[in-house]
Amino acid sequence: MSAVMFCASSVIYFVIILTTVNAAGSRNKLFDDDALNNELDRPIPVISEQGVAGQKGILPCDIQPRDANDAVSMVLWFKEADGEPLYSYDARNRLGKAKLWSAPQFWGNRALFRATSPAQLLVQDLRESDEGVYRCRVDFRNSPTRNLKVNFTVIVPPSKPIIYDAKRRDMSKLLEAYAEGANLTLVCEVHGGRPRPSVAWYLESKMIDASYEVRESHGSKGESSTLTTNRVTLERLTRRHHHARLACRATNTALASPPTTTVIIELNMKPLTVEIMNKRKTVSAGKKYEVECKSTGSRPPANLSWWRGAKPLQKPAKVLQEGGMSVSILQWTPSVEDEGKHLVCRAENPQLPDAGIEDKWKLEVHFTPIVSLRMGSSLKPEEIKEGDDVYFECNVRANPRSHKLVWFHEGGELHHNVSGGIVLSDHSLVLQGITRESAGKYTCLAANTEGKETSNVVNLNVMFAPICKHVLNSVPSKFQNATPPPFNVPEELHGALKHETIELVCEVEASPTSVTFHWTFNSSGDLNDLSPSKYTSEGTVSRLNYTPATDMDYGTLGCWARNIVGQSKQPCFYQVVAAGRPYPLQNCTAFNLSGALIRISCIEGFDGGLPQKFVAVSSDQRWESAFPYWELDLRKPTEAVSLYAVNAKGSSDPVVMDNVALRSIAWKNVAGDPVSSVDMSPILIGLGGTATGLGLIVTGVLMALWRRHAATPAKPKPPQPTISTFAGKGDEEDGNPDLIPTSELGNHLESSPYTDLFPEDRISSRAEKCPMTS
Ligand SMILES: *[C@@H]1O[C@H](CO)[C@@H](O)[C@H](O)[C@H]1NC(C)=O
Ligand SMILES: *[C@@H]1O[C@H](CO)[C@@H](O)[C@H](O)[C@H]1NC(C)=O
Ligand SMILES: *[C@@H]1O[C@H](CO)[C@@H](O)[C@H](O)[C@H]1NC(C)=O
Ligand SMILES: *[C@@H]1O[C@H](CO)[C@@H](O)[C@H](O)[C@H]1NC(C)=O
Ligand SMILES: *[C@@H]1O[C@H](CO)[C@@H](O)[C@H](O)[C@H]1NC(C)=O
Ligand SMILES: *[C@@H]1O[C@H](CO)[C@@H](O)[C@H](O)[C@H]1NC(C)=O
Ligand SMILES: *[C@@H]1O[C@H](CO)[C@@H](O)[C@H](O)[C@H]1NC(C)=O
Repeated sequence: MSAVMFCASSVIYFVIILTTVNAAGSRNKLFDDDALNNELDRPIPVISEQGVAGQKGILPCDIQPRDANDAVSMVLWFKEADGEPLYSYDARNRLGKAKLWSAPQFWGNRALFRATSPAQLLVQDLRESDEGVYRCRVDFRNSPTRNLKVNFTVIVPPSKPIIYDAKRRDMSKLLEAYAEGANLTLVCEVHGGRPRPSVAWYLESKMIDASYEVRESHGSKGESSTLTTNRVTLERLTRRHHHARLACRATNTALASPPTTTVIIELNMKPLTVEIMNKRKTVSAGKKYEVECKSTGSRPPANLSWWRGAKPLQKPAKVLQEGGMSVSILQWTPSVEDEGKHLVCRAENPQLPDAGIEDKWKLEVHFTPIVSLRMGSSLKPEEIKEGDDVYFECNVRANPRSHKLVWFHEGGELHHNVSGGIVLSDHSLVLQGITRESAGKYTCLAANTEGKETSNVVNLNVMFAPICKHVLNSVPSKFQNATPPPFNVPEELHGALKHETIELVCEVEASPTSVTFHWTFNSSGDLNDLSPSKYTSEGTVSRLNYTPATDMDYGTLGCWARNIVGQSKQPCFYQVVAAGRPYPLQNCTAFNLSGALIRISCIEGFDGGLPQKFVAVSSDQRWESAFPYWELDLRKPTEAVSLYAVNAKGSSDPVVMDNVALRSIAWKNVAGDPVSSVDMSPILIGLGGTATGLGLIVTGVLMALWRRHAATPAKPKPPQPTISTFAGKGDEEDGNPDLIPTSELGNHLESSPYTDLFPEDRISSRAEKCPMTS
């Protein structure tokens, strides 16, 4: 800059400066003149001037002559009392240009005199050493010499301020963001400056703090330095401080612009808003939903997190951040546990964790009922017995409320029925006076708009006193399809010969099943306990081996059982009667129906004292009937058919319809004869009378007969008319009720009649051929 200014006015002077070496010769003369004309003693006007170090300074000097005809011949500059001139302006040569000279060891070429009006000595690049009182001596051609003084002060600008934060970190090297609401304290330090600078803080362009402190310090070499500091605190930074310019300025002169350091405040800001966008009035458990949460105002953008109540949801959410806005999208399936809880979206500036804000959504979760069933708490499930009252409680949790509650027992729905002892109220089921049929699995079912749900199963155990098992399963008809028929139907008849041992089996149902038995015998009103040695008990079954020895031993036996609930109300009854096998069928007649069907009809004989039924057997088929009447569909029309009566004691002798008999029927039928009958029997003698009318051969005779019978080879036995078998046995005198054909005693004694009713060989060996009558 200064070079340009010099150039503007001094192309010619340049030449003159080159000539100053020549002028050195005249310098002593000038000095002498100055000494001669010393005007220092006289009062000399003083003007004050200032310049800034490093910049340009001006030393003014009035060189205007008082007399208009006069002119300047020479101007000399001295510093304070120094007699040596530092600068000269020589205009003595009127024709040429004025000569300029500057003392090289002082200003050198930093100084330049300008003889303008007012005249000035310009000094470039001011130094502190340039400060002082200068004298300007102006010599005129005619007028007396004039002296002027300039008190020149060099102002030293302070250093550039350095701004430190509270931790004394240089802010210019720091990019730190401050928390919204925090107090920001900064210190501005300024070194040096003469005169001492004032240090002030500016926020944007407004001064906010002008109070500074000055400290003098002395370096090791004794040089002193000044430190000027200003500490400022911005309390509770607010959002408007974000990106604000905070400047520290050190001022000690108006001549130069003050050194200034600026920092830009960066703030971390709290989120301003957070909102769950699509809150629903209700949600359904188990259904998938998408929920969106938005937050604005945070810097850096808020971190959004989802919470259920106070527990964070671990579900990952989709997050978008744009500008100051954060969006989080949560895929979420509410569960029953969420009902009544809050779904919370929390917006949090990661830098300001304490300034999080939340939006809450109180959830109303609809779900299918949660149903649990339990027995009444005051009941002891292990101690419930028949006749007790029990109740169940069905606990239903549902939203919306369940509108339906249904009770089930073993899968069947229960209905309110006070007379039936079933009381349904609100959420309970009362069963009054339960029976053992009340036992089993109970459930309840509740329904609401979301669906229906069945409870757990509660099993009701009902203890009851033993009851005879066959009372439960009592057979409606006198006979069952099976052969043999059941033998321990209550009050069932059991036939036994004297001294014959029969086994009576008594089975009960009971809960608990640990039971004790005892047996009684009721004969003509007297009830006698049987000796325990006669029966065995195992579980719920007791077996009695009973052997009637006298007439008095026939009667009714009772089997009683007892468990902790009590004794059976009624025993199982067994009626033991004197009985044997039934008598054979009589007067069997065959008719040809149509096609292959044959009808056979007989007259039944004595039943042996026990109920009987009837069986027809061919070589490969078997028919049972409650009556002595069959309609047979023979596969081989020519085969023989055996006909039996059967009771619990065994089967009668068979009546055989041989193929000749059957074929003759067919023939008869073809011939148009309406009936072909085969008469197989004379009636048993005395059969029309009572059982007592028939005698039993004394035991010894029986045994002898049996032995003989058994010894007789069975196979070649010729067919005998049945009448011969029974002939002469009708009138045994002892009135024994046993009605046993003597020839069959062996069979009765040797095997249980029920195990194998009709072994083939026995049938054939006992076959009685029916003679045909025509
Ligand atoms: C020069 O000026 C300064 C202040 O600017 C003052 O302190 C000093 O006394 C003055 N010197 C003279 C000789 O007038
Ligand atoms: C900020 O300064 C004020 C006033 O001095 C004080 O009450 C407040 O607690 C300070 N705040 C912090 C965050 O230091
Ligand atoms: C956001 O918040 C969650 C929960 O507080 C935290 O686990 C996660 O680290 C945070 N993320 C950021 C980037 O701060
Ligand atoms: C109520 O219970 C009684 C006794 O079990 C039964 O006879 C009657 O039919 C029941 N009534 C209804 C309406 O089911
Ligand atoms: C015993 O038999 C008599 C007469 O048959 C009858 O009246 C009575 O009830 C019976 N007693 C028992 C306990 O069965
Ligand atoms: C069986 O037939 C014979 C002779 O045909 C007859 O005397 C007898 O009365 C018949 N029996 C019955 C019970 O009808
Ligand atoms: C019964 O009669 C028919 C003719 O009506 C005859 O074809 C059939 O063989 C006869 N059935 C028997 C078993 O004899």
